[in-house]
Amino acid sequence: MTALTLSTSSAATVRADAVVVGVAKGAKGVVVAPGAEAVDKAFGGKLAGVLETLGASGAEGEVTKLPAADGLKTPVVLAVGLGDAPAKGDGYDHEALRRAAGSAARALAGSKKAGFALPVEDAEAAAAVGEGALLGAYTFTAFRSNGAGNGKNGKKNDGKSAPLAEVAILGGKPRDKEFKAATERAQALAAEINRARDLINTPSNALDPKSFAAEAQAAAKEFGLKAEVLDEKALKKGGYGGLLGVGQGSEAPPRLVRIAHTHPKADKTLALVGKGITYDSGGISLKPAGHNETMKCDMSGAAAVFAAVVTAARLGLEVNVTGWLALAENMPSGSATRPGDVLTMYSGKTVEVLNTDAEGRLVLADALTRASEEEPDAIVDVATLTGAMVLALGHRHFGIMANDDAFRTSIHEIAEEVGEQSWPMPMPEHLRKGMDSPVADIANMGDRMGGGLVAGLFLKEFIGEGIPWAHLDIAGPAFHEGSPWGYTPKGGTGSAVRTLVRLAERTAAGDLG
Ligand code: BES
Ligand code: MN
Ligand code: ZN
Repeated sequence: MTALTLSTSSAATVRADAVVVGVAKGAKGVVVAPGAEAVDKAFGGKLAGVLETLGASGAEGEVTKLPAADGLKTPVVLAVGLGDAPAKGDGYDHEALRRAAGSAARALAGSKKAGFALPVEDAEAAAAVGEGALLGAYTFTAFRSNGAGNGKNGKKNDGKSAPLAEVAILGGKPRDKEFKAATERAQALAAEINRARDLINTPSNALDPKSFAAEAQAAAKEFGLKAEVLDEKALKKGGYGGLLGVGQGSEAPPRLVRIAHTHPKADKTLALVGKGITYDSGGISLKPAGHNETMKCDMSGAAAVFAAVVTAARLGLEVNVTGWLALAENMPSGSATRPGDVLTMYSGKTVEVLNTDAEGRLVLADALTRASEEEPDAIVDVATLTGAMVLALGHRHFGIMANDDAFRTSIHEIAEEVGEQSWPMPMPEHLRKGMDSPVADIANMGDRMGGGLVAGLFLKEFIGEGIPWAHLDIAGPAFHEGSPWGYTPKGGTGSAVRTLVRLAERTAAGDLG
């Protein structure tokens, strides 16, 4: 991964391939953001004017490259747009910094080192720049025959698409404890988000429940977590009817992974549960062409949970965080669950499977019941659960449902704080009766209208009594099919990891009830 350093060099003295400066939209045209003073000086104080001449406006995501002026030690100056300039006295919004750093880092692919001279007035701002740059520099090349930049297949990279190798944050006080801690956190967090992205981007012929579980075991060993894997035999013995019912049509049997970070001084335990469908064909209720091309992403919830737990361990957070990865492949075959079949879940409840494409709630139900048995202080599940949530909120927001209004509000606020877009959704009780089944305790489908909420109501039935629980439906933001923007690449995004990690930090600090 791209290296991150704090540098005492100024924008004028840094030796690198490029120096990155921020530009914003001011009331009277382009303004140069703080941090770029030395660069502006080299341009005779006319950097804003030069950029305007080149057509720059300061708009978010805009990248303008120009040859450096005399007095600078880098051949290139890259000006990145920050959007509207803040009101006098206010600093730049951290999410604007994160996005700008991401756009700049991506535009510098193929370079070795860049100095980032963006406004970093405090440690949090420096961390945002670092986070954005490391996330924006991400590329996924493991399956390119030239293996650009990954070295995994033993071939040399082609030098073109290799990610920016080093990000040096200028003006970032390397000897200041807060700056150091914040950038170390940014590094661990970005590394884990990029790990989640790698897992999501890995095609389903290279990632199945078994190999996903092995990845979790390897990371647990590396970072000192405890991992346990229930294989198909253990799942049968334990009566995990949801996981088994979804996985039985596949040649690759299901797994339930428990991966735990514990801290000796922790007095709270957070359980995180992730949907890990390594491929969702829909099963016998097969998805039509046009709806299955990106379904390798259906394990994004499990990837987010996995990444968040490992981050908690890497940061040594004073809270216990238990991750549950509900892994299965949803395939049609002679052994697959049929529409109309009844499953007996781990909780003992019976479910009539009316639509085998509503599989996420089945694997999650077993994992939620199992997680509840340990009586955690809260449970959060993350899942690419419904197309209905994408219709409701689009591709940038995840939906938040909960059995506790205050908890839902907290999650929403935390997401805002870390720069993840989300929106609270209701859980209308009247939708429950749509899932009444003539043969079983509940059906896995109900009203089509409000389908995302119906799915949430289904999950709620499997939460242990009295445990605060929230459900994040990330079907929209988990996988990005459009052009890259800010620090969001094409493909897996790592949606929800930042929210989960901040939730763990808040829980450790005793901020949440
Ligand atoms: N994995 C899908 C949901 C999804 C859709 C994720 C689009 C990402 C992008 C899920 O398993 C699914 O198929 N849900 C069905 C449920 C329905 C059959 C009740 C849906 O949303 O159509
Ligand atoms: Mn499905
Ligand atoms: Zn699915």
